[in-house]
Amino acid sequence: MNQEATPKTAKLSFGDKVLDLPVMVGSEGEVAIDIRQLRAKTGAITYDPGLGNTGSCTSKITFLDGEQGILRYSGYSIEDLAKQSSFVEVMWLLLHQQLPSAAQLAQFTQEITYHTMLHEDLKHLFSSLPKTGHPMAVCAAAVGALSTFYQKNVGSPADNNWGDSVRLLAKMPTIAAYSYKHGIGQPFMYPRNDLGYAANILHMMFGTPCERYEPNPVLARALDLLLILHADHEQNCSTSTVRTVGSSGANLFASVSAGISALWGPLHGGANQEVIEMLMSIRDGKRSAVEFMDLAKKKDSGVRLMGFGHRVYKNFDPRALILKKACDDVLGQLGRQDPLLDIAKELEQIALHDDYFVSRKLYPNVDFYSGIIYKALGIPVEMFTVFFAIGRMPGWIAQWLEYKKDPEAKITRPRQVFVGANQRAYRAVETR
Ligand code: SDX
Repeated sequence: MNQEATPKTAKLSFGDKVLDLPVMVGSEGEVAIDIRQLRAKTGAITYDPGLGNTGSCTSKITFLDGEQGILRYSGYSIEDLAKQSSFVEVMWLLLHQQLPSAAQLAQFTQEITYHTMLHEDLKHLFSSLPKTGHPMAVCAAAVGALSTFYQKNVGSPADNNWGDSVRLLAKMPTIAAYSYKHGIGQPFMYPRNDLGYAANILHMMFGTPCERYEPNPVLARALDLLLILHADHEQNCSTSTVRTVGSSGANLFASVSAGISALWGPLHGGANQEVIEMLMSIRDGKRSAVEFMDLAKKKDSGVRLMGFGHRVYKNFDPRALILKKACDDVLGQLGRQDPLLDIAKELEQIALHDDYFVSRKLYPNVDFYSGIIYKALGIPVEMFTVFFAIGRMPGWIAQWLEYKKDPEAKITRPRQVFVGANQRAYRAVETR
């Protein structure tokens, strides 16, 4: 709705009351009715399970338009950033809502590089956990435990949480790689300061002390692209979790650890692992693509077309479009085929011509194609969501810092509509 046409207030008539509620208009024309006085003036609250109609904050970090399929980090389109930027530059953009100068980027890159190592004592946390533990559980634990090594700074930040932010950005890949190495019984690989961010991740994941490992630049660039595409996505489930935990005054490490746990869910970041397992089940003949799609349309089947649908995008997720093309590019550059990509494209074609999906505006989301590239990088399926967390780290931090600086921010404390038992007298157990 354009700003001129938008009314300045929204009239609410409720019983014998008529309220004029203020209307806010965002910089992209988004309209919000400010209901902060609603309960005080009417005694009533709103009801919005999942908060799909509720703005929890104002933000300058990321804008997305679900109807148009638009995603921008502080005004820069995801298409431009995917083509021209780097993940470390996108980190700076999200944290400062400005692109860095060449000097700022060089200095920031060096700061990140020199914080990638973990405290040697933290390594014992990994070996204390079962090798079969899911790496998302290991990473959530390790990130939460990071705060114990930086107690002096945590909670009363002298530097406005900058040191903690850099440590999380720098150490998350090391934590991720260590969770993988622990699981396969290989020695941890220390980060190398001569490698770029994505190349260092490949080194820590796939290098061994027995021989020199040189990351493939094609794979490093593909990983950097994946990280850019996952870097932020406004008030999604895990980011709202990070803001909510931070709203109690909990430190950044604790807040991000909670975000990792929220991301793990199969309806959120865990979907990328579910997508590949879905594609593998079709590849291995458990059921054909058509049979699978028929099941996905049946409510009681318990089967969903994972990687399809979105709370906000009711059009194509722009990240999915970029990733679909990247799949062809990466596999082509590697001279590889992957039947899972063909199956994914077949499922997409079926869905795009099936009224069940079209009428519900279900399109591929970021998770539908990402796993094909993770797989081409050699990343095991159970690590896919961990890589989503590496990508989302700058978004979580930027949103948490924005919350801390927001003069209107309050501790998150939603209301409820109680539908339970009314008051009743207690009865001794003998009489029940
Ligand atoms: C991410 O929020 C973000 O920004 C998240 C994210 C980010 O970057 O942070 O984009 C990352 O989490 C992407 C989403 C990954 N999850 C999946 O791919 C899991 C599969 N998708 C869904 O479960 C579902 O689409 C959601 C959870 C993503 C969205 O759920 P909604 O918007 O609440 O949709 P809904 O559950 O209200 O569904 C509406 C209808 C229902 O059918 P009816 O009741 O109308 O008959 O669509 C159906 C649903 O049953 N439906 C699906 C479906 N998704 C919704 N049916 C089959 N397959 C699906 N995937």
